[in-house]
Amino acid sequence: MIHQQDVDPAVTGKLTCGSLRASDAGQVVTLNGWVNRRRDLGGLIFIDLRDRYGLTQVVFNPQIAPNAHARVSDVRNEYVLRVEGVVRQRPEGTENPKLATGQIEVEGHGIEVLNEAKTPPFYVNEEVEVDESLRLRHRYLDLRRPHMQGNVILRHRVAQHMRRFLEDRGFVEVETPHLIKSTPEGARDFLVPSSASPGSFYALPQSPQQLKQLLMVAGLDRYYQIARCFRDEPQRADRQPEFTQLDLEMSFVREEDVMSLIEGLYIAMTEQHSDLRIREQPFPRLTYREAMDRFGIDRPDLRFGMELKQVSPALAGTGFQAFARVLAGGGEVKALVAPGCAGYTRREIDEVTELAKRAGAAGLATFAVSADGVRSPVAKFLSEAELVALTSGIGAQPGDLVLVVADQPTVVAKALSTLREEFGRRLHLADPKELAYCWIVEFPLLEWDDEGQRWDATHNPFSGYYDDDAALLVTDPGAVRAKQYDLVGNGHELGGGSVRLHRRADQEQVFGLMGYAKDDLADRFGALLDALEYGAPPHGGIAMGLDRFVMLITGEENIREVIAFPKNQRGVDLMFDAPAPVAQEQLDELRLAVQRDSQSDREA
Ligand code: AMO
Ligand code: AMP
Repeated sequence: MIHQQDVDPAVTGKLTCGSLRASDAGQVVTLNGWVNRRRDLGGLIFIDLRDRYGLTQVVFNPQIAPNAHARVSDVRNEYVLRVEGVVRQRPEGTENPKLATGQIEVEGHGIEVLNEAKTPPFYVNEEVEVDESLRLRHRYLDLRRPHMQGNVILRHRVAQHMRRFLEDRGFVEVETPHLIKSTPEGARDFLVPSSASPGSFYALPQSPQQLKQLLMVAGLDRYYQIARCFRDEPQRADRQPEFTQLDLEMSFVREEDVMSLIEGLYIAMTEQHSDLRIREQPFPRLTYREAMDRFGIDRPDLRFGMELKQVSPALAGTGFQAFARVLAGGGEVKALVAPGCAGYTRREIDEVTELAKRAGAAGLATFAVSADGVRSPVAKFLSEAELVALTSGIGAQPGDLVLVVADQPTVVAKALSTLREEFGRRLHLADPKELAYCWIVEFPLLEWDDEGQRWDATHNPFSGYYDDDAALLVTDPGAVRAKQYDLVGNGHELGGGSVRLHRRADQEQVFGLMGYAKDDLADRFGALLDALEYGAPPHGGIAMGLDRFVMLITGEENIREVIAFPKNQRGVDLMFDAPAPVAQEQLDELRLAVQRDSQSDREA
């Protein structure tokens, strides 16, 4: 994406390996940098000197500078040099239009080796695939690569853009503590023992949620922070145990105010820092219900169609037991049309069936549509009318493959959304140059937790709900819609927030449904609940994942690529080798004992 950076030397106060142009010919210059490549052409030795601003070619001629030429004979890649010389236009035909400095070269007169370098474990000067563990172990070398520097610098620019944007709108940046008490965002806490209070622990914040609400009670009115959050949860391509949020909160606002603020920011940032086209503006809004019905997921990739089709009504009287049984049990049957896949082989069908099963489906029924009719292992169990309803009835054309899952709605949604994503990838249905944003709104406030036999917040327990739904809290809690909004981009949850509950009684009612005992409430949320009684203003906010946004606009597929020092998939820092056991004295100071058995269990 954006690689070497053009920076005015006046800004950095020095010449860089990216700054010299044809108009500088004749100047005597000094450059510092790393040896990107050395070429020895018999007499002449060429060094490409690299820093974060670019590359400059330096030529050493034994006739002109015998000492420098001799010294440069034994420098190797990644040596750190200071070079002195004269800028000159490159001989005709040897210009390099791909380099910003490609019109010139420096005739080297002097050289100082500032430091030597061992042969790096991987090429720093080439864009080649390198084993990720090796990259993470030597991250300082990995970050020397122009591509990675581009990501780090772009991330910096995005963060600065956020700051400027919010500064212009009256927001106050406030730091909140990292050593706090547990705040629930649905993951496990990282705990920090305290030597001052043996047996007691701080928790690292999963987010500054309660603190930012307390800042609203404090009257700060518009708060933001580029906040580090910590969650002990399984890693994924877009999840790290510590990650960064643009966290903000505002008083006296409605959902609309927060959403339009963020929409403005994300349009401006996308336009300024990426070459992606925003698919639709203003960002489309889907209710949670609509997103689940049409895509089976609350973070749909809207760059392509392939929507889920409801076929239950057409199968109401079916004789096919697999479908009839599900429908009788309150389930549903839905279908997906995979364009142009009618020719799928037995093996390919088995592959996607396996995928559906891993996503929880009991089975997958497939229907290959051709000019002569429908081919399906289950065709014989279905009537002609049912086959039509399952194919042309949902828009399938000859050449298409219809995928059908019958099950409870959550299972159908999971299986078909997984297949939709997979076919999107296989068939290249999404334009990689496009960024499809959408808001998802009207999430359910609560979901039933079968295991705990209680209601649980779908997002966080502080979200408010639509006034119209207040009575449902008593009669049908699962139907209450939260004042919650998530921003989705190309199938990633980029951020989410809500307008909060700001009265103690309302907050306690919701906590009550979630099964908290009074004591437990006082212990875990006492400060916030108390604060709500001292003139808490109505307020709402949002938190936007910074890592995920930068991943999206750089076209990376993993947030590790946009974090300077990330953990690996197992949450391990390979450079420092953390987490690591600590000395017995440290444990003693904290009065901690480690259960050796359970530790070796985990390692096994
Ligand atoms: P939530 O938990 O939805 O909301 O987090 C907000 C956003 O943070 C990003 N995110 C992550 N990024 C990388 N690695 C992770 N492990 C990770 N977890 C979350 C996502 C997500 O959308 N306090 C509420 C916000 C609020 O209500 O104001 C909160 O933290 O992009
Ligand atoms: P069975 O009767 O389980 O042997 O399944 C017969 C066919 O119906 C197989 O092709 C299955 O993949 C398909 N099938 C079974 N259960 C389901 C289901 N829940 N949803 C979709 N297809 C199914």
